[in-house]
Amino acid sequence: MCGIVAYIGPRDAYPILIKGLHRLEYRGYDSAGICLLNGDMRVFKCKGKVSDLEEHVKNEDVSGTIGMAHTRWATHGEPNQINAHPHFSQNKTIAIIHNGIIENYSVLRSELKNRGYQFASETDTEVLGYLIEDIMINEKVSVEDAVRIALNQIIGAYAIVILAKEFPDKIIAARKGSPMVIGIGEGEYFVASDATPLIEYTDHVVYLNDEEIAIIERGKDLKIKTIKNKNQTPYIQKLELNLNEIEKGGFSHFMLKEIFEQPRSVRDSMRGRLHVEQGLVTLGGIQNYEQKLINAKRIIITACGTSWHAGLVGEYLIEDLARIPVEVEYSSEFRYRNPVLSEEDIIIAISQSGETADTLAAIELAKSKGATVLGICNVVGSSIARATDAGVYTHAGPEIGVASTKAFTAQVAVLTLLSLFLAQKKGTLSKTRFQSILMALHSIPEKIERILLLDEKIHDIATIYKDVTNSLYLGRGYNFPVALEGALKLKEISYIHAEGYPAAEMKHGPIALIDQFMPVVFIAPRRGIYEKVITNIEEVKARKGKIIAIVTEGDETVRKLADHSIEIPDTEEMLIPLLATVPLQLLSYHIAVMRGCNVDQPRNLAKSVTVE
Ligand code: G6P
Repeated sequence: MCGIVAYIGPRDAYPILIKGLHRLEYRGYDSAGICLLNGDMRVFKCKGKVSDLEEHVKNEDVSGTIGMAHTRWATHGEPNQINAHPHFSQNKTIAIIHNGIIENYSVLRSELKNRGYQFASETDTEVLGYLIEDIMINEKVSVEDAVRIALNQIIGAYAIVILAKEFPDKIIAARKGSPMVIGIGEGEYFVASDATPLIEYTDHVVYLNDEEIAIIERGKDLKIKTIKNKNQTPYIQKLELNLNEIEKGGFSHFMLKEIFEQPRSVRDSMRGRLHVEQGLVTLGGIQNYEQKLINAKRIIITACGTSWHAGLVGEYLIEDLARIPVEVEYSSEFRYRNPVLSEEDIIIAISQSGETADTLAAIELAKSKGATVLGICNVVGSSIARATDAGVYTHAGPEIGVASTKAFTAQVAVLTLLSLFLAQKKGTLSKTRFQSILMALHSIPEKIERILLLDEKIHDIATIYKDVTNSLYLGRGYNFPVALEGALKLKEISYIHAEGYPAAEMKHGPIALIDQFMPVVFIAPRRGIYEKVITNIEEVKARKGKIIAIVTEGDETVRKLADHSIEIPDTEEMLIPLLATVPLQLLSYHIAVMRGCNVDQPRNLAKSVTVE
């Protein structure tokens, strides 16, 4: 959903912008572009990645101490050079970069066309640039006033940065719906979609709010106005992020690093919340909503993608442990299907990035009906974290690989804590049962460490299956969402068709696909409805399917039936998703690498989906 970065200060802008774009590339990698102001206003852009842009400008003059840059995930218009950002206005007096979608762009475009404007690209962004220039000319106003007037006509989402030829010491930035942060250094300013491009220069940041415009001028204090022309006092915060967290640290891919970080990230997600010795779970972030949660007649979880899978595990957990009915909704469906909601409802929005447009819209819908909205987010200070009434951060640390790994296990860990917290308050578990689950949860990070030692074995299994075209992932109970997540990981990074299914449902359709070429991954630990899963394995075996089974250490029964088995340590049934997911992440990772896929930036995907 596009990454944007801008700089003004005493240094050369180009290296700062390029480095920033590399950090933001996870947000989209269809095309990249840069604009530098140094006497004239120069724009360079090309299809492809940031490295292609670097190649493209090799013999160009990229000097200048003010500039902006963009990496694109295409929404309107093919990913080619013309549609790449920045876009000039018709008379080339301003240039614009944009993350988001302008929904009424075609109406605005037609109006401008009728008045003689000619557009170069098919993008919604170019229309906004033209509109701003048109207002500057016709209403004879400053660029910031023109931006403000234009934004009042815009329907949709935007994080924009504008440079104007006539104002070579000024950056105008604004946002609604798409994220934007401003870094404040010594005599210099940075603007970016997230804080990663500015972390080595400053730890003083201002998160722009919806419908705010920042006027950033060389040598002057930062000014913020709303689009209704109301002055705002910038709220400067200290950034809690360090450079090591966003670098690969010796791993060949961010995804692999993030898989291997899970003992630490799961531990961090439970730190200060799980108190085994006192037999207690505390969740400070939601303490003001404790009573509401205890009295809740139902909880609705809303999320997208991998976070939705975590939500499904959450449904099983909360119903099982705390006996509160739970519904899990895709945010994109929930927001448009006129759901029955009231002030008594509790909504839990789950999001790694905290920026997913559909989840944000689902939150706004729930709030408009008076429901209480809690968040489970990874990115501190993100839009969802701010839009919710209260919440619990997952503390997994920055996740850069587009395929979510450590964020998922941290979300599940937080949902487990939440279920236990509710169970403890509602008295739905006996003291001894509660305590034994706490102890089992406490030992999860160490058990993940043991699973990571199986990396080589999983690599060898991947070698055998790297060329398949289809696969099936099956699990029951708590392991059904694990099957969905395992299949999603494989398809998104290796482009092998993979389906996750409840194991027993297999006989209502997917069984027709099984032959001697079809790998079927079973999550079959010796807990829960183990015997029933064995029957399902037999059914696949009878049809000559190839079986890869995730089994409990020491299991002989499934091991004999399966072609390959991967042993995970035993734990309480409801905690198995925290373990069983890890070998599936590694399996997908190795298969994708062997197929030559770009695992950190799979085609057509983006990490943060800020468009609906
Ligand atoms: C994208 C990402 C997924 C993620 C989903 C939801 O599709 O590629 O990894 O699960 O968005 O994102 P969120 O940030 O809300 O968890």
